[in-house]
Formats: sequence, C-alpha cells, structure tokens
Amino acid sequence: MCLNHIGTRNIETKRLLLRRFTLGDTAQMFNNWAKDPENVKYLSWKAHGSIDETYEVLNKWIDEYKNENSYRWCIVLKETNETIGGIDVIEIMQDRCTCEIGYVLSRNHWNKGIMTEALKAVIDYLIGKVNFNRIQLRHMVENPASGKVMLKCGMKFEGILRQYGLTNTGRQCDSAIYSILKEEL
Ligand SMILES: CC(C)(COP(=O)(O)OP(=O)(O)OC[C@H]1O[C@@H](n2cnc3c(N)ncnc32)[C@H](O)[C@@H]1OP(=O)(O)O)[C@@H](O)C(=O)NCCC(=O)NCCS
Repeated sequence: MCLNHIGTRNIETKRLLLRRFTLGDTAQMFNNWAKDPENVKYLSWKAHGSIDETYEVLNKWIDEYKNENSYRWCIVLKETNETIGGIDVIEIMQDRCTCEIGYVLSRNHWNKGIMTEALKAVIDYLIGKVNFNRIQLRHMVENPASGKVMLKCGMKFEGILRQYGLTNTGRQCDSAIYSILKEEL
C-alpha cells in the first residue's frame, strides 16, 4: 500500500489558512455559501434551508476527522479571518493510490485566484505528504470556471464523461475530467 494517511492538517498559503472545520464555522458557512442556491448549483447537495442543517453537516464532518483518511479543509482568508469555502477529498481509491477532490468558494470571492491557490496547496499536500499517485477532479461542462482552476493547477484534461454528472435537482449532464500524476508535480 502506497498511502501514508495523516488526515487533515493545517496548510498555509500566501492569502489562505486551510484548517479543519469547527462548529464555530457554522454561521459563516451558512451565510457565505451553503444557503445560496446559485453558489451550490454545480454541487451534489442542495442549498441549506436553515442554519441548523449547516450545523448538522458540520457535526458529521467533525466526527469524520477521527478517521485518519479524512481530508476536508475549511478555507479561511487570513486577512479577515473569514470562512470562505471548503476543499475536500470526496473519494479515495486506496488500491490505486488515487483520490478525487471537490471544492466550493463563497460567491463574494470568485475570480480572485483563491481556489487555484487552495487547490495547488492541497495537491502538494496529498501527493507530497500522503503519497497519492493520481488526483482527479470532475466538473459539469456548464461550469467552465472550475475547469480553468484545474488547468491553472497543472492538471490535464482527460475527456468528457457523457451524461455522468448529476445536478442537485437530479438532472444528468456531461462532466469533464482532469487529473495530475505524482510524476508531473
Ligand atoms: C469554481 C470555483 C471553485 C472557482 O473558484 P475561483 O477562486 O473563483 O477560481 P479562480 O479565480 O482561481 O479561477 C477561475 C477562472 O475561471 C474563469 N471564469 C470565471 N467564470 C467563467 C466562465 N463563465 N467561463 C469561463 N471561465 C470563467 C476566471 O476568469 C478564472 O480564470 P483566469 O484566472 O484565467 O481569469 C468557484 O467559482 C465556486 O466555488 N463555484 C461554485 C461551486 C463549484 O462550482 N464548485 C466546483 C464544482 S466542480
């Protein structure tokens, strides 16, 4: 087995602190992205109807930190100490030393290079420290900004998975898939 699981540890970049979520993030997560249907349009889950729903989700995520193979970071803007998004490993294929990542950022902070900064740091961590060989990411073709982030992080476009994506309203759509290999880092 090639993986050296170390769980979610702090990562610092120029503008960001990536750290574990806490219950103290509930209000900012709800207000900054989870309650906004436009912000979560291309994710697998629907906007939260109440702050209690966000609290329950965070409780579950915090519980999962007990597992050494749980990788889920809260994205904090260092300048303001604000919780502005999340980036996590959504699937691990242990036998192939491969994982898939997902992410979301508050709409107020789009197009400033923030997710590119976060994803680059997470790729470095997962390949450099955890020893993944391949990291993959998918986005719905209707969401090209996400593909731009992947390309800016050195990932390669592999193709379109026809009608593979499922929107949070249950509609099937085409997905683009990208990857980066350890040897390319
Ligand atoms: C996708 C997302 C993570 C991007 O984060 P971000 O911090 O804004 O990304 P960056 O600023 O690093 O890069 C975005 C790039 O997309 C480009 N872009 C933005 N809207 C675009 C559009 N409609 N079409 C094409 N490119 C677009 C930007 O110009 C930028 O590219 P550039 O640096 O070459 O100018 C963010 O928009 C988000 O959280 N969206 C909602 C959740 C989501 O879609 N998650 C991903 C699911 S796969």
